[in-house]
Amino acid sequence: MLKLGVNIDHVATLRQARYRGMDDGEPDPVAAAIAAEEAGAHGITAHLREDRRHILDRDVFRLREAIRTRLNFEMAVVPEIIDIALRLRPDICCLVPEKRTEVTTEGGLDVAGACDAVRDATRRLQDAGIEVSLFVDPDLAQLDAAARTGAQFVELHTGAYAEAWHSKRERNLQIERLAAAARHAKGLGIRVNAGHGLNLQNLPLLHLVPHLVELNIGHSIVSRAVFVGLQPAIREFLAAMQGYPG
Ligand code: PXP
Repeated sequence: MLKLGVNIDHVATLRQARYRGMDDGEPDPVAAAIAAEEAGAHGITAHLREDRRHILDRDVFRLREAIRTRLNFEMAVVPEIIDIALRLRPDICCLVPEKRTEVTTEGGLDVAGACDAVRDATRRLQDAGIEVSLFVDPDLAQLDAAARTGAQFVELHTGAYAEAWHSKRERNLQIERLAAAARHAKGLGIRVNAGHGLNLQNLPLLHLVPHLVELNIGHSIVSRAVFVGLQPAIREFLAAMQGYPG
């Protein structure tokens, strides 16, 4: 069964729009995570960015205490955040690139270009009992590099697919790219997650990509929640994921 990881960063973005610098505020991303689990989410994803623009340190430690599924901690490969991950002990860390000026994570991690640093971070996290995933573009050279780090998972960046949606030809090309990457990763013994820009419109075609374990979805779930509520929104996504052939 294809699993759903709900990314709650966007709940924190809304809170920070009004309560930046304050000890408390609504909506609470931890309460959203608990509600997401009750609605059937298989995991919770949170990205503690270096600039703390949405999720805060206190959120991730409260999440660790509160959630009953899996905590996927998205993070840049930098010493400060690695130290926090080692104290937090999430179930899995997803290593992502981070630029201060970007609106959201824009491209995949350049594992091939920074293999030693990624391998060192991966080993430190794994030695602490934390699984590691690398957020990469569906690029075979990046997957080969990912295999050299020893990471157990990759998360395939689906942003280019999502952006190609309005051209049938382009979107089919991007699906083929994702499928080839998933097959290649599977051949390397790496488990495959996917995420970024997924929504109820583009999700069904993703069923053509084999070997997927989990999808991480945030923005579109929170957007849909504005109209139907968080739990109904999550159930809609779970329904759209049903029947995934694997
Ligand atoms: N996966 C990763 C690694 C991400 O950085 C993001 C964006 O926060 C997502 C998944 C979720 O993307 P979206 O919010 O577009 O669903």
